Amino acid sequence: MSGHSSDAWLEGVYHAKTQHDLIALYDGWADTYDADMQGIGYVHPAVIAGLVGRYVPEKSDAVFDAGVGTGTVGKILAILGYSNLIGVDMSEGMLARAKARKIYTELRTRVLGEPLDFASGSMAAIVSTGVFTTGHGPAHAWDELTRITRAGGHLIFTVGTIVWQDSGFAKKFDELCRKGLIAPVETTPIYHPMPYSPTESGFTTRAHVYRKL
Ligand SMILES: C[S@@+](CC[C@H](N)C(=O)[O-])C[C@H]1O[C@@H](n2cnc3c(N)ncnc32)[C@H](O)[C@@H]1O
Repeated sequence: MSGHSSDAWLEGVYHAKTQHDLIALYDGWADTYDADMQGIGYVHPAVIAGLVGRYVPEKSDAVFDAGVGTGTVGKILAILGYSNLIGVDMSEGMLARAKARKIYTELRTRVLGEPLDFASGSMAAIVSTGVFTTGHGPAHAWDELTRITRAGGHLIFTVGTIVWQDSGFAKKFDELCRKGLIAPVETTPIYHPMPYSPTESGFTTRAHVYRKL
């Protein structure tokens, strides 16, 4: 798909039939992803970086970027002085771009939704942007992401407004709250994460913050 516009790539990743196809699409998109997403006004990394500034005061604390992609969030966090950034993604191509930034202390190829080989309570915060969306990371991945977050740490992430209800996220977060594992802190108003995309400008999302108990 080399030479395709951001809309062709977005169309592809939202309709990938298998995990293998989704990985191949992101591997293929990695080289132009940053410029493509910037071109459609991609807002998530700025929103999430602002929330990290609000909830993670210690800049040497471990911040785990779930679905790090090319490192668009880490790029901003590093400028703000965060020095212990860890990331996972299932696309080697995207991870290679993140690695090239030289701002992550650790990057691993991992699939969200499968067990994570990180110690319980080892992260001060989980951040995630654009990953918990149609056909991407599943709601049950938050069991593991909650496990690796330390008590008092934060889960700071985006989920599309329709996906939140229709793909089990509302249910999963209710369950984690009922079990006494996390508590809600704040949810942003609805916003458009890709406002200049000809096909996806109407897509809406919210950023959510929960605290690990
Ligand atoms: C739209 S990109 C977002 C990347 C980055 N967080 C950003 O905001 O620019 C989605 C990323 O999630 C990754 N991804 C999707 N589903 C995943 C899963 N189940 N496990 C790990 N990575 C996943 C893709 O490989 C891709 O890099």
